Amino acid sequence: MAFAGGKVILFGEHAVVHQRPALAAGISIGVKATATEANADRLTADPWGVDLAPGEGEGQSADLSRAFATALALYPEDRPRFHVHAEVGIPGGAGLGCSAALGVAIIHALDEAMGVTREPEARGEVSMAWEKVFHGNPSGVDNMMAAVGGIAVYRRGEPLDPILARKSLPLVIAHSGESSSTKDMVSMVTRQYEREPDRVGELFDGIASLVRNAKLAIKDGDHKAVGQLMDMNQALLSGLMLSTEKLERLCKVAREAGAHGAKLTGAGGGGCMIALCASTEAAQTVQAALAPHASFTAITETRSRGRAK
Ligand code: PMV
Repeated sequence: MAFAGGKVILFGEHAVVHQRPALAAGISIGVKATATEANADRLTADPWGVDLAPGEGEGQSADLSRAFATALALYPEDRPRFHVHAEVGIPGGAGLGCSAALGVAIIHALDEAMGVTREPEARGEVSMAWEKVFHGNPSGVDNMMAAVGGIAVYRRGEPLDPILARKSLPLVIAHSGESSSTKDMVSMVTRQYEREPDRVGELFDGIASLVRNAKLAIKDGDHKAVGQLMDMNQALLSGLMLSTEKLERLCKVAREAGAHGAKLTGAGGGGCMIALCASTEAAQTVQAALAPHASFTAITETRSRGRAK
């Protein structure tokens, strides 16, 4: 059984597509996958009720079929055929890295079945072809976090920089109930950057300095400072037209219920927000305040792991 977790971007979404750093954390919900030998290659995924062959499919499942074909193409032609089954425990289109976790879990399951040894970071890299099917120009942060986990700074083309956090970060995740497409949001921001390179470049640089300060604050366990930096990041994301009324309301409700800070996470235009809390108990209070306004809420404690230990 292979597992790959989802992620939250604490700082730096979108700027990370344009060569700035992002700070992200793996979360405990994710995707489980198994690969068993069969007569033909086949992918099933629950609770979606998906059942498809590689490279085929129509509508929404066409992308999944193509992505499945990219995963199988990592192995020799004369390999056995596999039935891959995935249990998806993350809402899709929510900014929680569902597609990357699915890709990484499937490749991990195939690695296990084929006896292939691969370092987690290498698995993150090879799963980029999978992610490109869905997102066009992904930065790679979702794949790397799904493969490695923990808390880390990610920058395109550079090795992951794990952060050794003094304290775990109790976060509440709340879904606005609005769906959005990462591909469309990334294109929208890229168009703004092309039209106004100075203004948008400055916003990205501002976000990059928040990432640098947040790394220090997380190392020191200074959650109050991390929360303030999250609020600043949210303001800069709003300046890129990535927030919505619903996301703004959720952030306000979280702050009023005692969160240190709150912001959207992932592509924006809908999807999820995150709120940083002082403790798990404080997170429960914030979750209770958010629940009536959200379609999904969860509490997650993000911790350092991997090479940071
Ligand atoms: O919404 P998600 O989980 O796909 O996160 C997207 C993060 C972006 O920075 C907007 C895109 C990317 O590829 O990094």
